[in-house]
Amino acid sequence: MAFVYHNSRRSVLSLIGAFMAASMAAAQLSSTFYDSSCPGVLSTIQTAVQSAVNQEARMGASLLRLHFHDCFVNGCDGSVLLDDTASFMGEKTAPPNNNSIRGFDVVDAIKSQVEALCPQVVSCADVLAVAARDAVVALGGPSWTVLLGRRDATTASFNTASSDLPSPLLDLSALITAFSNKGLSTTDLVALSGGHTIGQARCVTFRNRIYNENNISPSFATSTQGNCPSTAGDGDDILSPLDVQSPTAFDNFYFQGLVNQTGLLHSDQQLFNGGSTDSQVSTYSTDMAGFFNDFAAAMVNMGNISPLTGSDGEIRINCRTTN
Ligand code: HEM
Ligand SMILES: *[C@@H]1O[C@H](CO)[C@@H](O)[C@H](O)[C@H]1NC(C)=O
Ligand SMILES: *[C@@H]1O[C@H](CO)[C@@H](O)[C@H](O)[C@H]1NC(C)=O
Repeated sequence: MAFVYHNSRRSVLSLIGAFMAASMAAAQLSSTFYDSSCPGVLSTIQTAVQSAVNQEARMGASLLRLHFHDCFVNGCDGSVLLDDTASFMGEKTAPPNNNSIRGFDVVDAIKSQVEALCPQVVSCADVLAVAARDAVVALGGPSWTVLLGRRDATTASFNTASSDLPSPLLDLSALITAFSNKGLSTTDLVALSGGHTIGQARCVTFRNRIYNENNISPSFATSTQGNCPSTAGDGDDILSPLDVQSPTAFDNFYFQGLVNQTGLLHSDQQLFNGGSTDSQVSTYSTDMAGFFNDFAAAMVNMGNISPLTGSDGEIRINCRTTN
């Protein structure tokens, strides 16, 4: 009896604690955060993202991914943007990022325009969150209101980037756990994975899938093998589109591809492999508006992961270095 009482009291207390932590963090972000301190910031970022995407459509995908890789490593705090130095090891060379994340020059260009407009007001973490939204819109995807007021970390974590960014080799249950560890639901996992409707992956990330897995369309496996040699180390960096049907359009074809067993990554096809997320994938494959709606909501949830607010952290002048 005492055990039961103690246990339930503890879970009620921890529920209250979790609720307060989540709502306090979210409450400090606000859509109007820069309305008086930097009224032009949103249009400045939007114009810069649009022109970067016009120059190279894939940049839209790369910017979206940077925000994801920022948020999953100790929260959306701009930590992913810090360069390594002789005395500082950042996140850029952690295995999930090394030779993979890109877009830093575009972020630098945006940040210097923003600094010219309003010096030391807008954080790098917020620039990433807004750029991710604008990139999705530029490629035809949904829009949403970005909550603002994040501040920038003065530290980064190679080890957390190595451990907390999900590997493309994970099975469904491990993917669900990786997102749940960040306070994101399974619905968020499936919706956010729809980010793979744009962008490219390297052969090294999907070689095993296209040569050794059975839940893959045979014609898709054959055609993808043509661009990714079976020998380990051979052609590791050759790119293939994550959504073979429309790699530069933000649409629901990624989910149609999962239903057709043309998911590129092992982790992609796990979302439609006879498990609990099949129905959500099927729904999105025929309901683009439903996917857009859930993706937008999930991006807001992801953007709320552990922001630095108030007087924590700093407003970095250069996103690559602490002040
Ligand atoms: C569910 C777990 C996820 C796994 C295992 C995963 C894994 C990967 C991998 C392995 C790549 C290719 C990297 C390379 O070869 O260099 C990639 C690319 C990409 N990912 Fe994910 N990802 C996940 C979730 C997400 C989320 C939540 C988003 C954003 C909402 C996202 C957006 C992207 C984009 C846009 C690209 C292409 C980037 C480019 O072309 O530059 N991913 N992902
Ligand atoms: C990152 O990639 C470079 C170039 O391929 C490689 O030399 C380096 O060892 C990698 N770094 C880590 C930490 O794996
Ligand atoms: C996937 O299936 C849909 C509906 O059956 C079809 O329209 C589409 O062309 C298929 N795509 C691929 C890549 O097989």
